[in-house]
Amino acid sequence: MKIAVVGTGYVGLVTGTCFADSGNEVICVDINKAKVDALNRGEIPIYEPGLAELVEHNVEAKRLKFTTDLAAAVKTAEIVYLAVGTPQGADGAANLSALWSVVETLAPHLRTDAVVVTKSTVPVGTCARITSMLREFTGRDCDVASNPEFLKEGAAIEDFMKPDRVVVGVRRQEVADILHQLYEPFLRTEKPFLSMSPESAEMTKYVANALLSTKISFINEMANLCERMGGDINDVRRGIGHDSRIGFAFLFPGVGYGGSCFPKDVRALEAMAIQHGLEPTILRAVDAVNERQKSVIASKIEQHFGAELAGKTIAVWGLAFKPRTDDIREAPALTLIDWLLEKGAKVRVHDPEAMNNVRADYGDKLAYCDMRMDAIDGADALCIMTEWKDYHSPDFAEMYQLLKSPVIFDGRNLYEPDRMRRRGYKYFSIGRPT
Ligand code: UGA
Repeated sequence: MKIAVVGTGYVGLVTGTCFADSGNEVICVDINKAKVDALNRGEIPIYEPGLAELVEHNVEAKRLKFTTDLAAAVKTAEIVYLAVGTPQGADGAANLSALWSVVETLAPHLRTDAVVVTKSTVPVGTCARITSMLREFTGRDCDVASNPEFLKEGAAIEDFMKPDRVVVGVRRQEVADILHQLYEPFLRTEKPFLSMSPESAEMTKYVANALLSTKISFINEMANLCERMGGDINDVRRGIGHDSRIGFAFLFPGVGYGGSCFPKDVRALEAMAIQHGLEPTILRAVDAVNERQKSVIASKIEQHFGAELAGKTIAVWGLAFKPRTDDIREAPALTLIDWLLEKGAKVRVHDPEAMNNVRADYGDKLAYCDMRMDAIDGADALCIMTEWKDYHSPDFAEMYQLLKSPVIFDGRNLYEPDRMRRRGYKYFSIGRPT
């Protein structure tokens, strides 16, 4: 099939590349010329395992192209995927201005049999609104479908190629059939293709992210309770996870969820509820607990160092909001760093991929260390904010020598508290005995 994908952010780039890889002719469009030029040279603007190789392979096979020319890309496309950014607006609701502008621009160039599909996370009712906009601009009824994306950063290719399910929201069975055909190569493992109304599909995306966020905020609150009451959240997690009704996924306590999706989507759903006259009690709590959790390491540091933090050197391992990405949007590490700087501490940071992004925002306010051990050399404490593999098994004896005082605040529960105590460390983690 001939496919145009508008927007080459995370979702658009992965979608376009994976559809090209399954044999389709894909043209990806972006208004950012520098980005398009870089992509045509095979340079990938984000760090995502496996993506660069896949882009290169499909560009070479001439199945994948990048352009700034939206009209030309849309003219021949049987399917037009919309994957432009939908950032959080001032009131918490998604800002759809980029999407509206794309719809208006592409309308005159659409083939009469083209299917327009939203891939960005968009508020419930967006498909219906695009349908009426296209009717106004073209004078005819165009097929508009919703096909929410469930991929995770850091595992994007794998998630796209082997989805747990594919959800489409359509008004006509024929459109579902076209999309089913497109997804067939990815559904060989008998995973379901679920067809529903556009409103249900749009809602599915928000509900999935909101429920996953709820699990994280819930376990974080339970972890904080464990700490105060003497339990160990890791044991509790095992104790509940073996109940098949509960399971283990997304119940790891930590420093709160970040990234470009959970925080934004929980707030957008909250805004939608309010717009429709419903008090979003649970969503508000999920967001509030998460905001508080992002300061959990700061509270522990304050408790330990008291008023003596000014002038101390604190090392931070892990800046990205999670491992295997360079994305620092809403990253809990940044909340900690801002607080440390405000308190007058000197901050030394390490991250395997996200350092350039942090440097662009913080400049010379921080010391950037290419080697993880350089960050802790002479530091008064180490904070672990992202569970990169590099941090799982360091040489504890060497660390002990390097740190000025052997104090670790572990926001991801990477080490065993008992062993850390035996190694001579003061070790603080989340929801476990100190
Ligand atoms: C999330 C969803 O998992 C995807 O299904 C969805 O497609 C995507 O949002 C999106 O809407 O585009 P992502 O933001 O890439 O994916 O990252 P996750 O792996 O879900 O992690 C989100 C945050 O939750 C991270 O900060 C992570 O550290 C935190 N987390 C996750 C926990 O604190 N505990 C856990 O048990 C799991």
